[in-house]
Amino acid sequence: MNTNNLPALITPSILSADFSKLGEEIRQVTGAGADWIHIDVMDNHYVPNLTIGPMVCKAIKKIAKIPLDIHLMVENVDLLIPEFSRSGADIITIHPETSKHLDRTLSLIKDCNCKAGLALNPASNLQVLDYIMDKIDLILVMSVNPGFGGQKFLPMSIKKIKDVRTKIDEWSLKDGHNFIMLQVDGGVNIDNIAKIRSAGANAFVSGSAIFESGNYKETINAMKMEIQKSDDLKLNYE
Ligand code: DX5
Ligand code: ZN
Repeated sequence: MNTNNLPALITPSILSADFSKLGEEIRQVTGAGADWIHIDVMDNHYVPNLTIGPMVCKAIKKIAKIPLDIHLMVENVDLLIPEFSRSGADIITIHPETSKHLDRTLSLIKDCNCKAGLALNPASNLQVLDYIMDKIDLILVMSVNPGFGGQKFLPMSIKKIKDVRTKIDEWSLKDGHNFIMLQVDGGVNIDNIAKIRSAGANAFVSGSAIFESGNYKETINAMKMEIQKSDDLKLNYE
């Protein structure tokens, strides 16, 4: 698949930001070229960590000039979807295990006027996608086990990204079918982003690699350049 004509979005995860100056961090990362702000919502039930809720999302919305990409890692997910929509979410991504009736939950996200994403954990297979492709705008391939920032990218994720890319391409070939983005989350950095791109990703979540770098602009630019290099290589090869 030629990924060159796919958008390449950098979506910094604020999980690794300095929460004592969150507004300033968001302004800085936006000025540095971020495309979306990725917000990791964890409830200490579905994942062993506790982060932020709709109130914080609402506060971020007041200052954010780019879309808010909400990654829900919570149980009873249906209760929180309308809350996050009211708090300014643009994209809401859920994990299939957190919904009793997945088709209904994805419709709920759309009814709330948000883009709907579905996240696949490292050991999950792709079967869950088979009958809901028409309901989603984004597939998120988790390249770490969800719960914490700063983990190492799991190498098997590359095969997973390629498999999901094939599935999306087969789907999109048919007339009238929706466009689906492929986002990758966990351990993404300057060194591996080209490989992730050439496997077929077009949205890249990155937390620690951006927020722990001394210079957000330099880091995001370097990521975009690596993506461009990978696209150029592919063009020459094809
Ligand atoms: C993990 C989260 C990720 C994480 C990314 O559960 O979904 O978004 O914060 O952080 P890094 O890039 O540090 O792996
Ligand atoms: Zn995330």
